[in-house]
Amino acid sequence: MVDRKMSTRAFNVSEIRKDFPILTQQVHGRKLVFLDSAASAQKPRVVIDAMVRVMEMQYANVHRGLHWMSERASDAYEAARDKVAAFLNARAREEIVFTRNATESINLVAYSYGRTALRPGDAVVVSEMEHHANLVPWQILRDAHGVELRIAKITDSGEIDWESLEAQFADGKVKLLAMTHMSNVLGSYTPAERLVAFAHARGAKVLLDGCQAIVHRAVDVQALDVDFYVFSGHKLYGPTGIGVLYAKREILEAMPPFLTGGEMIESVSYERATWAPPPYRFEAGTPAIIETIGLGAAIDYVQAIGLDAIAAHERELTGHGLKMLAGIEGLRVLGSAQDRGGVLTFTMEDAHAHDIATLLDRQGIAVRAGRHCAEPLMGRMGVSAAARASFALYTTVEEIDALGEGLARIKQIFK
Ligand code: ALA
Repeated sequence: MVDRKMSTRAFNVSEIRKDFPILTQQVHGRKLVFLDSAASAQKPRVVIDAMVRVMEMQYANVHRGLHWMSERASDAYEAARDKVAAFLNARAREEIVFTRNATESINLVAYSYGRTALRPGDAVVVSEMEHHANLVPWQILRDAHGVELRIAKITDSGEIDWESLEAQFADGKVKLLAMTHMSNVLGSYTPAERLVAFAHARGAKVLLDGCQAIVHRAVDVQALDVDFYVFSGHKLYGPTGIGVLYAKREILEAMPPFLTGGEMIESVSYERATWAPPPYRFEAGTPAIIETIGLGAAIDYVQAIGLDAIAAHERELTGHGLKMLAGIEGLRVLGSAQDRGGVLTFTMEDAHAHDIATLLDRQGIAVRAGRHCAEPLMGRMGVSAAARASFALYTTVEEIDALGEGLARIKQIFK
């Protein structure tokens, strides 16, 4: 297993940028300023190379062949599982299930755990600041299985409203708390350790959607004592098509499969089938072999730089970004949590978010605009759409200044 604390490289953003081939691209004749990493991050050369290397040198289906090539591919695929387990500090590699993305991981839990461990009349709590991926699967479970879905309020600053959370748990019916670890809109981190202790003390399990958080800070599932933790590879500088579900071993062992077919079985007759133990029970069909190996390379990459160094860099960027945006009249940043990461979502008087994004794009600056897959949250914050700038380990202070200049120009246009 890899040492999750090792950091073998000093943090130097100019050097880091050289690892990302796409960052040298021009867009509309301007240098690319990529401020949309919360939607999907760019890929370092080592990830691209690892994926090409598999296809060129060690590609075959995994776990099936008794031939040299299949064994090499299987070893590389399983090595990625070890890397993820070490990265999260899981107790065992069997606690790591590979999925297509975090959305699939949550659907897996909602379907498999939700329809067996939860009983009609039990309640699931989510917060007002969930991505659709951590809301819609629970709505489906509610409608199909008769569990109650409760929404815990957030404060105007974008933090957990503990009074509301207490109230949701008061009748003892809540059996699962499913919450983001960092909002993809407000940038706020949720206090994971406190939430887990709170829910456990009231007899509920906890799922954390770590899509945004895992990119910016070290996550230790044992220290958090969290029951389920999910994330996607593509936001962590890895490829698309690969996601992770961490769950405690005893929980996974009690869960039935989500998808069924090849590789997830123990034995099959015409009448019935029995299931393989976790994690294979949850990995039906040929998995995303190349992408999984790419994710392993991405984890090696961020670990070599060190999550603490990445977090410190992004804190500086976020502070700079907030100060810059505060200087623009008529601009409103959504959320003001104390503990926040590099995601700044904002509206500007007189300019629609889509116009902001389109005009910034003409200057080579990529931001996301719209509802950010969190439509109810936008309503909660009193806006119909917003623009979002998000930062990564390769983002520079100069790029944030370029955003500031771009916004100033847009303000002039709409004046
Ligand atoms: N969930 C991703 C985002 O926030 C796609 O942009």
